Amino acid sequence: MLDAPEMSDAEYDRLFRELADLERAHPHLRAPDSPTHRIGAEPAQQFTKHRHLVPMLSLANAFSEEELAEWEDRIARLVPEVRRAGYTLEVKIDGAAVSLTYRNGVLAIGATRGNGSEGEDVTANLRTVLDLPLRLQGTGWPALMEVRGEVYLPKSRFAKLNQEREARGEPPFANPRNAAAGALRQLDSKVTRGRGLRLFCFHVEAPGAKRPFETQHELLERLTAWGFPVEPHHQLAPDLSQAHRAIAKLETLLEGLDYGADGVVVKVNRLALHAELGVVGDREPRWAMARKFAPEVAVTKLLDIQINVGRTGSLNPFAVLEPVEVTGVTVSNATLHNFDLIEAKDIRVGDWVEVTRAGEVIPQVLGPVRERRTGSETKFELPARCPVCHSKVERPQDEVMVYCPNVSCPGRVLEGIVHFASRGAMDIRGLGYERVRALLHAGYIDNVADLYDRDKLNQQQLLALDGFAEKSAGQLIAAIEASKPRPLSTVLFALGPRHVGFQVARLLARQFTTMDRLAEASVDEISAAHGVGPIIAEAAAGFFREPRNRQLIARLAALGVNLTEPHAAAGGPLAGQTYVITGTLPTLSRAQAQQAIEQGGGRVVASVSKTTTAVVVGSDPGGKLDRARELGVALIDEAELLRRLGRRL
Ligand code: IVH
Repeated sequence: MLDAPEMSDAEYDRLFRELADLERAHPHLRAPDSPTHRIGAEPAQQFTKHRHLVPMLSLANAFSEEELAEWEDRIARLVPEVRRAGYTLEVKIDGAAVSLTYRNGVLAIGATRGNGSEGEDVTANLRTVLDLPLRLQGTGWPALMEVRGEVYLPKSRFAKLNQEREARGEPPFANPRNAAAGALRQLDSKVTRGRGLRLFCFHVEAPGAKRPFETQHELLERLTAWGFPVEPHHQLAPDLSQAHRAIAKLETLLEGLDYGADGVVVKVNRLALHAELGVVGDREPRWAMARKFAPEVAVTKLLDIQINVGRTGSLNPFAVLEPVEVTGVTVSNATLHNFDLIEAKDIRVGDWVEVTRAGEVIPQVLGPVRERRTGSETKFELPARCPVCHSKVERPQDEVMVYCPNVSCPGRVLEGIVHFASRGAMDIRGLGYERVRALLHAGYIDNVADLYDRDKLNQQQLLALDGFAEKSAGQLIAAIEASKPRPLSTVLFALGPRHVGFQVARLLARQFTTMDRLAEASVDEISAAHGVGPIIAEAAAGFFREPRNRQLIARLAALGVNLTEPHAAAGGPLAGQTYVITGTLPTLSRAQAQQAIEQGGGRVVASVSKTTTAVVVGSDPGGKLDRARELGVALIDEAELLRRLGRRL
């Protein structure tokens, strides 16, 4: 299906950028058929090919104000006047790009973009677009020019068209853009006319001719005077900060328009500067940038509410959703946080709900769309028993969470061991969810101490399990052994007493230096540690009062797991060093990288200075990279950071 996409636009944009980045870094790897060489589809056979006088370009995307500011920084380095030249802002129409050739004021050819250099001659179809002037008004047009614009299908037309198609048993169009592109490439132009296409124009190419305008803003005014339809919200912004403000206002407008708009195009206003700025890689002009808005909230159906038992025994409700795309990622589960929230927001199974990932990696349900209720939705009942071990649930006073009190609840044990072995905790390579589940199921382990007990878990036994061979079994045992010397702060965090996150674990470990001392401390002594409040202190002390936990710790010690904290400044491999992180690292999240550096005795700061030891650079780095280069600070990647930490790669 030529006009049915295989992935979302946001996902495509992300992958395209990743590929373009890689190709910039490793030009020799750029394949001759890489999609970065071309901008659209090859012309279909049925239409005559048409070579554009001037190639049709595409636009680079900026997904935030920062990215837009970085663009200005980049182009101002080449041509400093851009900061004072002002910007035109235009709504970015989401349709099909066309190029209209006018000779002496008369439409000669209308073509699709095709691969950017060569498109398809669809003149007959474009003539059916009512907005399109077949003969120009006024005066002053170049004798030969290409006017560029976007053909689109109004949203209202699109809805009607799809109703008609469904009534006829035809498959509906996925979106207005596909419907517009499809309509343009009809072999029978009567069909095109019936679709009701519209047009907006925004660009002129007139190679060799003297253009009767100096700025993009004047260009749009002239287009209007000649009889071209121009999107009415275009405006001038004198500088970038005013552009940011105007874009924010435009963003709120876009949804209400009767045409698909997927962002705002920001263009350097002064056309003379366009030539100076030029084009990147035959594809994107430096003088324009598409500020795009990734959809941050989606609406979908809540199919079920299920409960996951966390490692602290907390019952965590989550939503099972009809899969939906949010910020370019398909989401089918989302957290509901706690039962109070379900009640307060009156979220019911069968509801249409709003889902977001904004700023969060974990998707969450915001609330129901009440207007879409049919009456068949069902209220969710707070469970009286743990869904895994059926113990009666408990709810501590003043807490919103409900807990399974059974420390041996299989749900808790599984989550607890997975957490213990996870990257931010003991970092045992190869011990993930499925393997922990298999080890529990086989009865080899019941708790984290059993991992270190070679009477219980050894290479021979692993070989009896599915998915293990000599080598992988040996590697897992070695990885478990390698985790023994981790500092007390890590072990404490890995054991996961309620409310003890990594920061608190480190505070406690530094204060008490050995597990024994910490285990003997009173609530008051613990809360005397700087930064530890009474609730945390009570939870930590409670953890050590529990006989099973004391036994577990005694076994860990007997099995050779380190339970002391080295002096951070003296001990860690990064002691006394300062790091800055920029961009997205290949495997570690920002928080994990920071934690790893701090575990190694180093510090992470926000901005680069001369005293910075090194900047850890990921993909899409920000201005910090430039700053580091200016100051001559060392640049390292994640692999080098892990090497310095003596961690696995
Ligand atoms: S300027 C050389 N302005 O978006 C000029 N493009 O993603 C480059 N588009 O190929 C394009 N509205 O088809 C420009 N106001 C606007 C636009 C716009 C929609 C389309 C255009 C372009 C695509 C790039």
